Amino acid sequence: MKIPNLETHSQEEALLSELLKKRRATVSFDGSLVPDNILLTILKAGIESPSGYNLQPWRFIVVRDAEQKRHLGEAAMGQAKVEEAGVVIVCCGDLHAPRSNNLDEVLAEAAKHGFSEDQNQRVREVINKTFNAPAGNAMGIAPDYAVWVNRHVMIAFTTMMWMAEALGYDTAPMEGFFEDKVKSVLTIPDHVRVVALLGIGKLKGQDKPYAGRRKLQDICFMEKWGENINLNEDG
Ligand SMILES: Cc1cc2nc3c(=O)[nH]c(=O)nc-3n(C[C@H](O)[C@H](O)[C@H](O)COP(=O)(O)O)c2cc1C
Repeated sequence: MKIPNLETHSQEEALLSELLKKRRATVSFDGSLVPDNILLTILKAGIESPSGYNLQPWRFIVVRDAEQKRHLGEAAMGQAKVEEAGVVIVCCGDLHAPRSNNLDEVLAEAAKHGFSEDQNQRVREVINKTFNAPAGNAMGIAPDYAVWVNRHVMIAFTTMMWMAEALGYDTAPMEGFFEDKVKSVLTIPDHVRVVALLGIGKLKGQDKPYAGRRKLQDICFMEKWGENINLNEDG
């Protein structure tokens, strides 16, 4: 029996697919400023991201000041786009998020949204068990905090990147930086890791050409590692 075509091509899908096609990692920005309301929309998108137990371990430092951008650029291996961008959002992860008063704040907010004391208590117990357990614990989660914060921060990072693109701005993700130098420039405390930098602004000149991607069937498998993926374009 032929399965009827699903209505997968909604307006949202078309817009998102177009955005995905158009985005390039920006090589050079023209120095245009990013206004407050745009920046707020981008940051608000980031903090709506999902996170394990809703712990929201991301922390963002918005760098717009010319002098700070110059120092940050030096810490980012001299990448000129740091200074050229209207803004650089330095995306960090708080290693203490499961343990510190962050958890109290998260649960207090949940209570405001109707979560009961019982529910919150259960979450607190599970979190304490998970994050204080030794590696390979019964919860199946090794408390490798560097991996843990990276996982979450990159979701928020990516969400902000897409929001910036949707607002007509260009973006540059960056991992080329010396973490200790970035921390020193921005006075970031020890328990916070710098995960990635997101430059936002307006493109100067031409986008670099699209370098393509590896073939889907070479990197996506079905049911088991290495097993061919066999999906029908017609649904
Ligand atoms: C997490 C991350 C870090 C990156 N770091 C840098 C960087 O430090 N400097 C740079 O010029 N490009 C950086 N890039 C951009 C990549 O080189 C670029 O995304 C890749 O070549 C694919 O190009 P496209 O994004 O235009 O498709 C980074 C990209 C990601 C996702």
